Amino acid sequence: MEPSQFFNSNAGEYYGTDAGMGTVNELAARHIEKGVSGRVLSIGGLWPQHSPDAIAKLDLVVADVSEEMLRPHREAGISTVLDDARALSFEDESFDHVVLPLVLHHITEQSWRAARREVHEVLAEVGRVLKRGGRVWISEFAVRRPVYWAEALAAPATKLILGLAGIPLVVMHSSEFYYSALLREEFGEVESYYPNPADASWRDPIRPIIGLPWLKVPRGLYPVRPVVLSAKVAW
Ligand SMILES: C[S@@+](CC[C@H](N)C(=O)[O-])C[C@H]1O[C@@H](n2cnc3c(N)ncnc32)[C@H](O)[C@@H]1O
Repeated sequence: MEPSQFFNSNAGEYYGTDAGMGTVNELAARHIEKGVSGRVLSIGGLWPQHSPDAIAKLDLVVADVSEEMLRPHREAGISTVLDDARALSFEDESFDHVVLPLVLHHITEQSWRAARREVHEVLAEVGRVLKRGGRVWISEFAVRRPVYWAEALAAPATKLILGLAGIPLVVMHSSEFYYSALLREEFGEVESYYPNPADASWRDPIRPIIGLPWLKVPRGLYPVRPVVLSAKVAW
């Protein structure tokens, strides 16, 4: 199933819960909002826990492949565009900042290897639409390298199992992969921020898979680390 179809069917559920990540999302949102200004493109919806006051100061466009995921933003008066991160419809040098909020792990073409290639494709597109000196902001769940390689080996089986439940494959990349992809796509001045709420416990239940609302695991047993990477277009 394509992510657009999946999110069109699951938008209500997605917006109905923070999957146990509310405090992490809040820290990530405040970090992004401190950095962005001017004309901003947010691809794959908007960053969760966004502040209405902060976004009111931006000339903001939200893009997504799912009409249903865009609907709440359009109804809130935000400019929205049905668009694919891999082939954006915007002209070169149109934005001061581009935000990729929890979207890259969904762009996989149903294969671990293709997912890595597609991150490069998206970053190349982001580099194209950013103005000189503009910045990209990647909010993601990163995994450590051993988990990353285990994920690669398990990807065909994971795809099969998720496919039985009608859920597209997701691929959590490592911070190192994002870092090197940014450098190869001609970004520089890479900075990373790890949102780590003081009151979070390893026992806090999180819901790791959107399409399986009954599945809850303690945060400490789910081997992902939230990160916000930002980088400047190098040319
Ligand atoms: C997990 S949701 C994140 C939504 C929102 N950013 C948030 O963090 O609450 C991922 C979003 O990415 C969108 N998406 C998936 N593939 C995409 C693509 N190739 N281009 C643009 N958006 C995409 C999905 O439709 C979905 O709305």
